[in-house]
Amino acid sequence: METIRRMESEVRSYSRSFPVMFEKAKDAFLFDTDGNRYIDFFAGAGTLNYGHNNDYMKEKLIAYLQNEGIIHGLDMATVAKNELLGKLESIIFKPRNLDYKVQFTGPTGTNAVEAALKLARMVKKRSNVISFTNGYHGLTMGSMSVTANAYYRDEAFINRSDVSFLPYDGYLGKDVNTADYMRRFLEDSSSGVDIPSAVILETIQGEGGIRVASVEWLREIESICREFDILLIIDDIQVGNGRTGTFFSFEQSGIKPDIVTVSKSFSGCGLPMSLVLLRQDLDIWKPGQHTGTFRGNNLAFVTASVALDYWKDDRFSRDIFRKGEILRERLNAISAKYPQLKAEVRGRGFIYGMAVSPDEIAREITAECFKKGLVMELAGARNNVLKFLAPLIIPDDVLTEGLDILDAAIGNVLQNH
Ligand SMILES: Cc1ncc(COP(=O)(O)O)c(C=O)c1O
Repeated sequence: METIRRMESEVRSYSRSFPVMFEKAKDAFLFDTDGNRYIDFFAGAGTLNYGHNNDYMKEKLIAYLQNEGIIHGLDMATVAKNELLGKLESIIFKPRNLDYKVQFTGPTGTNAVEAALKLARMVKKRSNVISFTNGYHGLTMGSMSVTANAYYRDEAFINRSDVSFLPYDGYLGKDVNTADYMRRFLEDSSSGVDIPSAVILETIQGEGGIRVASVEWLREIESICREFDILLIIDDIQVGNGRTGTFFSFEQSGIKPDIVTVSKSFSGCGLPMSLVLLRQDLDIWKPGQHTGTFRGNNLAFVTASVALDYWKDDRFSRDIFRKGEILRERLNAISAKYPQLKAEVRGRGFIYGMAVSPDEIAREITAECFKKGLVMELAGARNNVLKFLAPLIIPDDVLTEGLDILDAAIGNVLQNH
């Protein structure tokens, strides 16, 4: 640990929240070098939906490596890529009546967002993009410009033009429909908001504090996009890949985004890979026009293919919804048990947040959880939202054990207040 503290930049963050040396991980557990076991309610910020070192994926990966399968192939055609695309089409796209082209970008989520924004501007030949309050889309320059939180933006000293921020669903309270607000801005040529090439949004704002957009709001935003000839980009990097109970987070709303960004859990076991799904007619890229050395990670192709097997029928999806109910009921019970927290539970599927007050108590609670063997993080601009992102494969008894820890940790923290 001393070496890490000495050598690694001050920018490091999670090693501060969880100050132990992790050594091993399996399914929903992490283990440190002293052999302590932690239940993982963070899952690599939504990257380990299928758990750590998932047996099926590990087995395929080891066999692939032993067979001298290609590890790096630029964006050349490989057997692993071919298999993944075939399964994506047959298991995911066709049953959902989707017909996207797939673009592999650089390996991390922000690379997909950069590509999506660039493409939208190229297609519509307009510079402006609309993003929403509390949105989070990554921290490279283009993605950062559509990310709302000043903590990430202020230090960059870049020109933040070409992005208009509008209020997300619920931002102005329950009684204000912010989709109407957006429509008014677009139809009024004197509103100061230029018609954008695209609107980019998360259906549930993960980093922004587990803020859930309603189905009605999403549909209205889609219809405004159609009316004003604006592309709709859904950033499904965090809440896609089954997190909401369906493969894509927008399925329940029935909207059809023009562009979708995908990453995190898509590869299944934490290997980096990002992609952009784009409507066929938007594919105006020229060969190599948006290139990069690490586009398409063959090891990730192998594990992502295994991950897609979870979606061959609806059993996995039904199980996620079932577990989501357990989680929601227990969080509601905890918030009723400790009224001092003035907790607000929000989420859907298997992503939930519990906003607590005062803000500072949230960090005390996660620190106490960690002492008791539970890894949990915070979200929201004020870091006051306890965030539940346990792997989707977590067994019921482990989920309950983690929630018992949370319950006890809150009790301890409140005793000292
Ligand atoms: C919705 C969303 N978009 C983009 C990103 C950026 O992904 P990455 O950190 O892999 O660049 C994140 C990361 O948390 C995210 O939640």
